[in-house]
Amino acid sequence: MLTSDKIKIGVLISGRGSNLEAILNAISSGELNATIEVVISNNMHAPGLHVAREHGVPKILTLDALAYASPQEYETHIIEELKSDGVQLLVLAGYMKIVGPTLLSAFKDHMMNIHPSLLPSFKGLNAQKQALEAGVKVSGCTVHFVTDDLDGGPIILQQAVLVSDDDTESSLSHRILLSEQDIYKKAIQLYSEKRLVIDGQFVRILPEGGMS
Ligand code: GRF
Repeated sequence: MLTSDKIKIGVLISGRGSNLEAILNAISSGELNATIEVVISNNMHAPGLHVAREHGVPKILTLDALAYASPQEYETHIIEELKSDGVQLLVLAGYMKIVGPTLLSAFKDHMMNIHPSLLPSFKGLNAQKQALEAGVKVSGCTVHFVTDDLDGGPIILQQAVLVSDDDTESSLSHRILLSEQDIYKKAIQLYSEKRLVIDGQFVRILPEGGMS
């Protein structure tokens, strides 16, 4: 049973939006006690925009970073939109831009990202390809809080995915994506239950019902 208050989420995307969709589905099924108030894409062609529309997200915006005088102005606009809807948690779901100091300070400790590797291995782009090239037998995905250390913020949840000898980048990415969709909603639900305590690089997960 979900006992926590509903948290208000904002989601930043750039592309496909399958993690966004999984979060929206978890909300519809009652697995996740949250509402998505706003979805913002920096890419007007992002398929994730259709996902947001189909699920009736109340505010869907496309903001072109290049149309602003500076990255600060771009992020200030994002913050205004998020705050005007009372967004408490900012979720990055395939947002292909590095978050700058303006947005970071506005959502410090309240911004999550999903990455397709077991961090701290394989930071940055093409993490699944990096894993294959390194010959690892296990990879996976990580949900972490976002800091100014790219893909280096405090780790919330991880899930391992076995790598098989005949995996391609596409087959491994597909299996990792299924795991991403599983742990992202769980990490958000833990946040909504106020069970995530950040202690430096470490995230402590409080037991269920441990705090009001
Ligand atoms: C995911 O693999 C995520 O880990 C990475 O970008 C991809 C986004 O996929 N950050 P989607 O747009 O959620 O389908």
